[in-house]
Formats: sequence, structure tokens, C-alpha cells
Amino acid sequence: MTLLQNLESRLASALEKVLGEAIAPNIAPAADLRFGDYQSNSAMVLAKRQKTNPRVLAQQILDEIDLGELATAKIDGPGFLNFTILPAAYAAHAESLLKDPRLGAPEPGKGIRVVVDFSAPNVAKPMHVGHIRSTIIGDSLCRIARFLGYDVIADNHIGDWGTQFGMILHGWKTLLDHDALAADPITELVRVYRQVNASAKDDPSVLETCKSELVKLQAGDAENLAIWQQCINVSKTGLQKIYDRLDVRFDHWLGESFYNDMLPGLVEEFVEKGLAKESNGAICVFSDGTKAQEQDPFKVHREDGWNDNPAIIRKADGGFLYATTDLATIKYRIDEWNADQVWYVVGVPQQLHFRQIFEAAERWGKTGDFRHIAFGSILGEDRKLMKTRSGDNVGLVDVLEESVERAAAAIAEKNPDLQGKEAEEIAEIVGIGAAKFAELSQNRLTDYVFAWDRMLALQGDTSPYLQYSNVRIRSIFRKLDSEFSAEGIKIILEKPEEIHLARLLARFGEVVPLVLEDYRPNLLTNYLLELARAFHSYFEACPVLKSEEPVKSSRLALCELSSRTLEKGLGLLGIRCPERM
Ligand code: ARG
Repeated sequence: MTLLQNLESRLASALEKVLGEAIAPNIAPAADLRFGDYQSNSAMVLAKRQKTNPRVLAQQILDEIDLGELATAKIDGPGFLNFTILPAAYAAHAESLLKDPRLGAPEPGKGIRVVVDFSAPNVAKPMHVGHIRSTIIGDSLCRIARFLGYDVIADNHIGDWGTQFGMILHGWKTLLDHDALAADPITELVRVYRQVNASAKDDPSVLETCKSELVKLQAGDAENLAIWQQCINVSKTGLQKIYDRLDVRFDHWLGESFYNDMLPGLVEEFVEKGLAKESNGAICVFSDGTKAQEQDPFKVHREDGWNDNPAIIRKADGGFLYATTDLATIKYRIDEWNADQVWYVVGVPQQLHFRQIFEAAERWGKTGDFRHIAFGSILGEDRKLMKTRSGDNVGLVDVLEESVERAAAAIAEKNPDLQGKEAEEIAEIVGIGAAKFAELSQNRLTDYVFAWDRMLALQGDTSPYLQYSNVRIRSIFRKLDSEFSAEGIKIILEKPEEIHLARLLARFGEVVPLVLEDYRPNLLTNYLLELARAFHSYFEACPVLKSEEPVKSSRLALCELSSRTLEKGLGLLGIRCPERM
């Protein structure tokens, strides 16, 4: 149980005694430590219905609450209840954390199955920065959800079907370089796609050829299907290399093509059930008129007023669309996987698409908790969409390569003793970690400016800073004559820096679940930075190796716990910790 949960249940019993009924209290970490550790506004919220003064009600609650040895409480301002955890309670809590591999985190996700739809690049198109964000945020949300007890299915819904294959098929047949394909399939497919795309712009006959290749593929032509399958296979192999490097794992790769056979039946069912109707030859889902127009995803405001904004599920030429596939995907996830929730980690531009399919799915009776976890764009230092020198969107691999290179240079400068394979491995851990951390520490909805120097700084709000903090802690243990065991150690908290460190260590189990309230990994990155800073202040104020027993062991145990918490927290962000750097 976290300290917050402990206080909450004591406050709940007091409220029940005073009010005569069970009411869930409001209680949260205090914004300002001068008032205490935790604050409740329940007396203020409940005073109105009790027709009493908030401070009077607050006093009645204080008279009833049993805080035991946990905390002291006082009333502040208009009726806030402020709680200060006693140092002995922090010490006891730290002792319990030392025995707990979960470091005090609860498992609120037990019994909930969630499908996380993330990464989802399009085959034969380069992964752009949007896919980087999706991959990194999605992976971290999967790790956190799993840690919190959710039953997670990570699904890579790759774009492996679509009009781009007309061009790829034509390019494959006419200008593919097989050696280049073997060496780097994604780059070669992208090259072929781009070249055909460019010549189709100049020459309408090329476009026609591409269209007929696509029609043949869709009609099941054996040659084209075989090429398509090969394209998918090589692309998957190429993608898997990137995911391995990033340490990102999927349980499934059910791409768009997986749902192809289900689409005709789906459209028929929609028409039969009156969920969709014909309009200019296309089959569309329209507004059902139950929502205010401002909230209705099937309405759009233009100069001439409110207009229909239907989701097309079958084009007049019989083709199916992104929305059709996504509806089939929802059905599959609900009916076959029994998902309770589906999280889509996809950029802001697809907001309308998801609002439409979520509503269509609900009308269809596919009920679940569907969330579009949207994110903004990554900008270059000129505040424009990040591009490479040749003007292309920056690919994921470019970012990783450069990050690792820069990390290698920084490490060589800082610690020239590190050489060869070890130095390379550390650069990989530090460079990839820095790219992930820079991404995860942003408010996901805002566009952010990508700045290499800021991202790799050893001092600053970066993962190298956290990794380095952990390396420093681990080096304390290397200086001991014998192996240190934190088992059964009594924690003694005297100095304010020690108490503050114990306070932050106790917060870990409270912060991690908060991340999933609004899918914000930056709450965890902020927490880890705060923890590292608290550790450094502690380490300055409280000598560890030079102190006498029993203080020495207590301080070592706090070091151990800080290290475990940093490693676990970084692990939940998908970031590893080197032993040295
Ligand atoms: N492939 C799509 C894109 O690159 C993202 C797919 C997201 N997932 C989904 N179920 N629609 O834009």
C-alpha cells in the first residue's frame, strides 16, 4: 500500500464516522511541501451539503481520524486538511520498499485487457517522426501498463495494403536493385516508390500502369500477390531490426491486409443494420443526430453553416478505406481478443478519423473503452517540421544513429578509460536512451523542438543525467570491502535531505499509476529527475561511506533503493542503465 492509499483509507473511515455514509475522499500530494506532504479539500467540498462551515467540518474530521504513527494533520486556510508524514513512518515505508520488488507500486490494471495500437508504419514508406513518437510513447505505455497489472496486447497495425502498392509493384518489376534490397530493404523499397512516384507525376501512362498493377493485386493476381508478400516480408525484417535496437516488442503484427476478407461483409452488415447508407454511389456513415453539432464527428462547420461529414466505408468504385479496415480491426479486438480497452497511439492529425470510428463502433454494438492517445509533431531547431539535409522527413534510424554517435563522443571526452566494445555498448545505451527520454519528457500534445545538445547533456533534464546518477550510486558500492545486502536494515532518517529522499522514494508507487490517468509518461520523467536531484542533495549533505554504523548501513540502503527506483523507472520508459559511463 502506498502512503497515499494508507492516508486515504484513514480519511475515508473518518469521513464515514462524521457523515454517516461512505464517501471517497479527495486527497493528493501537496503542491507545496511547506504545507505538508498530502492535502485534502474534502471538508471544503462536503461542507456545503452538510450545511456547515468547512473549517468546522475539517475539525470534526480531525477529531475522528486515526492517524496512528503515520502522520500529523492540521487545518489551513478555508478548510484544507494538510498531512505531514512522520519521519519514522517514512523510515518504516523505506524498509518495506527494500523488500518489495514492485517498489510499492499497486496493480490497478488487474483483470483489464488492453490492446495498444502503436508504431504502425506503412510498408515501403519511410518511418517518419510521427512513427518515432508513436513507437516510443506506445512502448513505454505498454511497459507501464504491464507493470501495473494490465493484460497488454501490443499490436503493430502496419499499413501493408493500400494504393502505394501500385507504384511499388511497377517499380519492383522495372527498377528494383536486388542487391540493395538484400542489404537494406526499407531504403530500397522507399527509393523505388519515390522514383515511380516522381515519374508518374510527369508521365500519365506510368500512373495508368501503376493503377492496373494495383487492380491486379486486389483481384488476387498470383504474381503480384507474391511480390507484395515478399515486400511485406523484407519490410518486416527491416523493421524488426529497428525494433530490436530500440528494444520494442509486439505480441502481434496484424496489419491492414489481415482484415481484407472481412471488409465486404462489414459494409453489408452496416447497410443492413441501417448504420450506413448510399450516397453518390459510396457507402457512408452519417450523423445519427443524437449529438450537438459541435460534438458530432459526422458534422463539419463551413462558411455556409453545418454540413454532413460522413465516414466513407466503401467508395463508389467498390474500394474500401482506412475507416473500413479500422472498424474491422475494432470488431476483431473486441470479439476475438475480448479487449476491454484499446489505446491508439497516433498523431493529432488523425483525431477526426478516430472520433468517427469510435462512434460508429459504438452504434454497431462494439463497446469498449477506446482512446486516441494523440501527440504533436517534432520540429527542427528552425521550428519547422524536422527534415534531413536532402529535405526528406527525418527517419527514425537517422535520429538513432546521430544520437549514438554524439553519445560516443561525449563519453570519450568524459571517460577516456572506456574503450572498444564496452564504450560502444555504453554509447548505444546512452544514445538511444537520450532519444527516448527527450521524446517521453515532452507534454505529448505539444509540438516540440528537437535539440541535440539539450538531449544529451550530462547535467540537465536528460536521461544521461539519470543514468550518470545511477552510475555514481553503483560506484559507491564498488568501494565497499564486502557485498552489501539491504536485507533487514533499519532505516534512520535524521537530516532533512534524508527525509526528502525517503519521501520521493515513497512516491514512486503513487506516480506510476498517475501516468495512465491521461497517458503522460512525462509525469514519470519529471519524477525521476526530481528523485535524482534529491539523491544528489542527500549525497552532499549526508556522508555515506565515512559515517558510523548503524547510520552507514541505513544510508547505503537508501542509496540502494534510489538506484533500484531509478533503474525501474527508466526501465518503464524503455531505457537501460549502464554500469559505468
Ligand atoms: N499506418 C497509419 C499511419 O502511418 C497508422 C495506423 C494507426 N492505427 C490504426 N489502427 N489506424 O498513419
